[in-house]
Parts: sequence; C-alpha cells; structure tokens
Amino acid sequence: MAQDTFSKEETLAMRRRLIGHSCRLFYSDDPVKIIRARGQYLYDEHGKRYLDCISNVQHVGHCHPSITEVAAAQMDLLNINTRFLHDNMVQYADRLAASLPDKLCIFYFVNSGSEANDLALRLAQQYTQHQDVIVLDHAYHGHLMSLIDISPYKFRKLSGQKEWVHVAPLPDTYRGLYREDHPNPGDAYADTVKDLIDEVHSKGRKISAFFAESLPSVGGQIIMPQGYSTKVAEYVHSAGGVFVADEVQTGFGRVGTHFWAFQLQGEGFCPDIVTMGKPMGNGHPLACVATTVEIAGAFTANGVEYFNTFGGNPVSCAIGLAVLDVIEKEDLRRNATKVGAHLKQLLTQLQTRHDIIGHVRGIGLFVGLELVTDRRTRAPATKTAAEVVKRLKEQDRICVSTDGPWENVVKFKPPMCFSIQDADLVVRCIDRIITEMATSDLRLEKEDV
Ligand SMILES: Cc1ncc(COP(=O)(O)O)c(C=O)c1O
Repeated sequence: MAQDTFSKEETLAMRRRLIGHSCRLFYSDDPVKIIRARGQYLYDEHGKRYLDCISNVQHVGHCHPSITEVAAAQMDLLNINTRFLHDNMVQYADRLAASLPDKLCIFYFVNSGSEANDLALRLAQQYTQHQDVIVLDHAYHGHLMSLIDISPYKFRKLSGQKEWVHVAPLPDTYRGLYREDHPNPGDAYADTVKDLIDEVHSKGRKISAFFAESLPSVGGQIIMPQGYSTKVAEYVHSAGGVFVADEVQTGFGRVGTHFWAFQLQGEGFCPDIVTMGKPMGNGHPLACVATTVEIAGAFTANGVEYFNTFGGNPVSCAIGLAVLDVIEKEDLRRNATKVGAHLKQLLTQLQTRHDIIGHVRGIGLFVGLELVTDRRTRAPATKTAAEVVKRLKEQDRICVSTDGPWENVVKFKPPMCFSIQDADLVVRCIDRIITEMATSDLRLEKEDV
C-alpha cells in the first residue's frame, strides 16, 4: 500500500518535476496533502482533520467500509475483460434501469464522465445522421477533444467555437437574460434554443443533439427554471435531434427528492440519453451512458463493434452496486434533502446580514452562495469569494471551492453523509470570515468591479 513517504515539500517538488503543470492542485499556493479520509472528513499528513464540502465523487462518504469490502472481495475473486460474460454488469444495468424512466433501458459502461459524453455524442450523431450540437453557455462536458469542442468554458480559452457547435444562453434566473421577475423564465429560455435552431437551419445545418447538465455546475450551481427542459426537448425533437442530459455531477440522489436531477423538471420530461460518472463508483473510475432501444439500435446498425476494455468490469460493477445499496440503506437522499434545506436556510439567514451575499440557491446537497459587490448591479465579488475559500481552509480547515463564469459562487457538493452539524459549522465560519473582511479589508472588492 502507498505510504506517506515524503514530506509535503518533497511531494510538491516531485510533483512539479514529474507531473504536467496544467494538472492543477486545489489551493495551488499552499496545497493540502491528504493521506487518509473517512465519511466527509479528510486527514493531512499530521493527522489534522478537514471538513470536505466539495468531494461529490466520494458520494456515500470517503472510504465507506461497505464499498471497500465489496471492492476487495471482487478483486480477490475475479476482474476480467468485459467480453467475458459476467453477472455483475447485467445486475448493475438492471438496477440502474429501475432508477430511470422505462425508455432509458440500454446501457454502455465506460470509465469517466468524458468517455460517457464522447459516446453520447457519437450515439446522437449516428442516430440522427446530423452533426450540429447546441450547448449551454459556460458548460463543461469533459476533457476529450470532442468535448472541449462542446464546452464553452474550455473552447473560449483554446481553439474557439467550431461551426457545428452553437451556444444557447445559460438559463440563470439570477444573472442571465430572464430573471426572477420574469413571468415564465422556463419558456423564455427555451425559446432562445428555438431561435438558435432556426438560425442553424437557415445556414443549411441540422441539429444532432442538445447537450446540457441537468443543473449546470461549472456555470455556477444553476437551478433550471421549471418547464425549460420539456420545451427544449420539444424543439430539439422537432428539429430531428436528441436531448442529452449530463448527470455526471448531479446524478445518484444528490438533489435529494429525486434520483436524477433531470426529474426535477417533472414527469413529462425524459431525456433521450443520460450520461453519468463521478459519484457512480464512489471514487472508483466508473461511468455510463443510458439510452433508448432506438438510439442504441442505430449505433449497432453501423456494424462497428463498440469495445471498452475496462468499462463495466466485474470490480467496477460490484462497486457500483454497493454504492446503490448504501444510498438506500443509509437513506442518503433523505439526508441530502434535510441537510441541504438546513444549509440553504442558514445561508439565506446570513444573506439578511451581509450585503455581499447576492443569492443563495440549491437543491439537496447541490448548493451555491453567490457573492456580489453590489446587489443592484450583481457585479461578481470574485476576490472575496477566493478569500473566503482560502480563509476557510487556513483558519477552519474546511474545504469549499468556487464556480461560475466569474468564480464568485461558493459551491457545496459534499459527500451525501454531510450532517446538520457540518452545515452549522461551515455557515458559522463563513459568517465570521465575511464579518472580519467587512470590518478590516473590504477594499479588496473595489478591485473586482
Ligand atoms: C458536468 C460534467 N461532465 C463531464 C465531466 C467529465 O468527467 P471526467 O472528469 O470524469 O472525465 C465533468 C467533470 O468535471 C463534469 O463536471
């Protein structure tokens, strides 16, 4: 087993020498070296404990004993190429099917969210025989070249927008085109997608897919307005395209009330393809694409085998099954609903005392705290947000991070075992830090504007 062999400084020096510098660390000025973890707590090389508010991958808690036991037992028994017949893959697919609407009943197992989205793109293009894709502004769908192309968050800093990619406005009712005072922001934002489709058609091009996270996370922990997805699906279907819901961040009960975040849009809405990843294996690389018989049929009909060496191997699927069991046995969706509501309520109370808090939003354990320098203009308080993240780590040993186009949204996506006491602690510390900053160095934000 890997030992804590080096001092933090030595590890850092080796990392700088050996690892590509574009692979960034959290807290790059003074990274945290974590050597073990349990539940929602991380421990550094001196045994100091950190509260983890951001590891949505370790969904049911770090190193959950039920998961590690199952993983070790299956590794001891068999792990094998996915071309051999084995029960775990079919059992796991069957359990996933039970969590989804009936029409999403065919599964492809892969190893990362990026692989899942790349395959979703292939499925959509093969099925529709169209090429063009509509994505939401600021979206991130993965690190493969195909996904950089459909991720405005990345392509804007790189090769730019390809002619087959079209960017629709982010349906953000706090900061976007249509806000909380609009009578029907869901329809209004959906109409922007319709306009985009018309524009694409006017250029003689055709839509293969509309790709969106069910709750945009990199975009700033956005809660989609009601009715949006149903309307968009109607427009996309009538253009001959399919609706891809990226549930890589949001699936597996994070929103509490539902197993999948797309279900927040109501029973009438069902995507044609769902991609899943991060929380699926509780840290083990496991991801998946779920789709319909028709779309899978078109993919098979091209006559080319789809082979994925590791995707859906017996160990991965044993772990996936164990994660589903723990979510149920420990009633983690109920915990997410209860603790998430409590966290939101505390943050909303804080908002009444601190002008810098422009907006509090979220559902279940997917919560965002948007900081602004001016509530009227909603100018982002980027530097204050970074300072809150830094002080929480240095003074309180609490890990949070920021998201959103201006990195001014403090995000909470903790393991699902996050407790009421954890929520109380983090809000108390944020309150203290914002108060300290307001009295001593609010000057910081003047530079933001
Ligand atoms: C919404 C979304 N989709 C896809 C991905 C890519 O997943 P992975 O890093 O497992 O390739 C990410 C990763 O952050 C993501 O946030």
